[in-house]
Amino acid sequence: MRFDVITLFPELFEPFMQHGVTRRAYESGALQVRLWPLRDFAEGPYRRVDDRPFGGGPGMVMLAEPLRRCWETIRAERAQLGLPAVPTLLFSPQGQRLEHAVVAEQAQASGAILVCGRYEGIDQRFIDQCVDGQISLGDFVLSGGELAALALLDAVARLLPGVLNDALSHQQDSFNPAIAGLLDCPHYTRPERWCGPQGEAAVPEVLLSGHHARIEAWRLQQRRDATLRLRPDLLPAPCAPVADSKR
Ligand SMILES: C[S@@+](CC[C@H](N)C(=O)[O-])C[C@H]1O[C@@H](n2cnc3c(N)ncnc32)[C@H](O)[C@@H]1O
Repeated sequence: MRFDVITLFPELFEPFMQHGVTRRAYESGALQVRLWPLRDFAEGPYRRVDDRPFGGGPGMVMLAEPLRRCWETIRAERAQLGLPAVPTLLFSPQGQRLEHAVVAEQAQASGAILVCGRYEGIDQRFIDQCVDGQISLGDFVLSGGELAALALLDAVARLLPGVLNDALSHQQDSFNPAIAGLLDCPHYTRPERWCGPQGEAAVPEVLLSGHHARIEAWRLQQRRDATLRLRPDLLPAPCAPVADSKR
């Protein structure tokens, strides 16, 4: 799997690729990330990648032409290496929300060309002609698409075999279909009794019991309770009552 990332700030990616469990995904080659500094594809003495918006207004807009040149270079390189054709995804507040289903789909795919916007955004003509899908991190505005790209890459890396210490670990995570898309249960570790600012707190007794079935039942109930309390939208909608035809 290879992601090609078009960005004005490639240096933002490197620290994330060198630390943590996801580093294994990059080191093993399970997840390849090729960074493409957009300025390398700009022309002129100032290597401009942006200009003022037609129609006036604040801010600058990313030029379509350096993006096209970079995008075509990526596609040509991928073809030359025999890599499969992949979709081009733009990070944008207007895109589809980045959720587990999107991450799981990407973890099964061959990669993508990821476009990180900056400034007021990208010339719409590049989006219309070269972009297949748009992904949003949420209903807020970031300064650039790099954090969103990193979020996607990190979440994909966690799902790849051999990246987490325990292969089944991600299946216990919130939103995973293996736990019916529920939220995760609470976790505890040593010491058994801990004194916090609100007094002494003990680990739930069941977790110390060594009784595997009881522990699993407790965790399932905790997941259901947490989901109902914090994210009821994740639970299946209750069935509508059947109309009584005899009335
Ligand atoms: C300052 S933003 C532009 C926001 C744009 N004018 C708007 O209001 O929709 C610059 C870039 O950051 C990225 N970005 C900002 N917010 C984002 C979000 N919620 N999710 C994904 N990418 C985002 C996009 O790539 C965007 O082109």
